[in-house]
Amino acid sequence: MSMDWGMRNRLSRIFKSDGKTVMLAVDHGYFQGPTTRLENPRRTIEPLLPYADSIMLTRGVLRNCVDARADVPVVLRVSGGVSILKEDLSDEDITTSIEEAIRLNASALALSIFVGEHHEHRTLVNLARLVDEAERYGIPVLAVTAVGREMARDARYLALACRIAAELGARLVKTYYCENFEKVVDSCPVPLVIAGGKKIPERDALQLTYNAVRDGAAGVDMGRNIWQSDHPVAMIRAVRAIVHDNASVDEAWQIFNELKGKEEVVVKQ
Ligand code: 5RP
Repeated sequence: MSMDWGMRNRLSRIFKSDGKTVMLAVDHGYFQGPTTRLENPRRTIEPLLPYADSIMLTRGVLRNCVDARADVPVVLRVSGGVSILKEDLSDEDITTSIEEAIRLNASALALSIFVGEHHEHRTLVNLARLVDEAERYGIPVLAVTAVGREMARDARYLALACRIAAELGARLVKTYYCENFEKVVDSCPVPLVIAGGKKIPERDALQLTYNAVRDGAAGVDMGRNIWQSDHPVAMIRAVRAIVHDNASVDEAWQIFNELKGKEEVVVKQ
């Protein structure tokens, strides 16, 4: 697939000159509603924006909770249609048109695929269709893999889901870190970023970030482990140090502890 200037430009806004990225995920409300510490998205997002290489969110939160002058690339979530109340989270479709994405100046579009789940076929075909539309305008598509209740997130499964996403044309793939993650990276021909998953202690989340980058991830697309921390700014800056400055876990932990003392930024809702 050729890469025109617009495509390269958009990808270079997301991946910095070192080829790495810290994406801030705040799209959780699209199926979870007012997620803890994201009840008021503007309040959560604003202090973190200066440290995010891009922001992943829906059009509703973008329009209403992010200043249009913000100098941050937008990764627009365009899939949805199901809520946390349903058993089957895979029942998603495309919820935002390509025209809307262009109007909102999206740098990339994000859609979830559900490999091995009930609506696998629909979500995979939706990915392929979205890629067809987005590529027409030079917009990369990020495939979000492995969001599901019961999936064993091991290397075999994640490699399957990530490879399928890349084969269908995703320019970048979001997945989870796992044992033998190098195998997932090695068999996926496009950059992988990792989600953080449920909130864990800060040092463990820094270790997860470190392991993922060491094993070949191009960075993170992280949400809860940043903004559910009592010190979200310190946390995103510590994550950045690992992703962009090759910091060790000890160094990042030190950065976190120093910054949390100085910037008493506690997100209160
Ligand atoms: C949900 C998503 C989230 O953006 C993703 O899970 C990343 O957030 P977290 O780090 O909180 O897991 O795509 O479908």
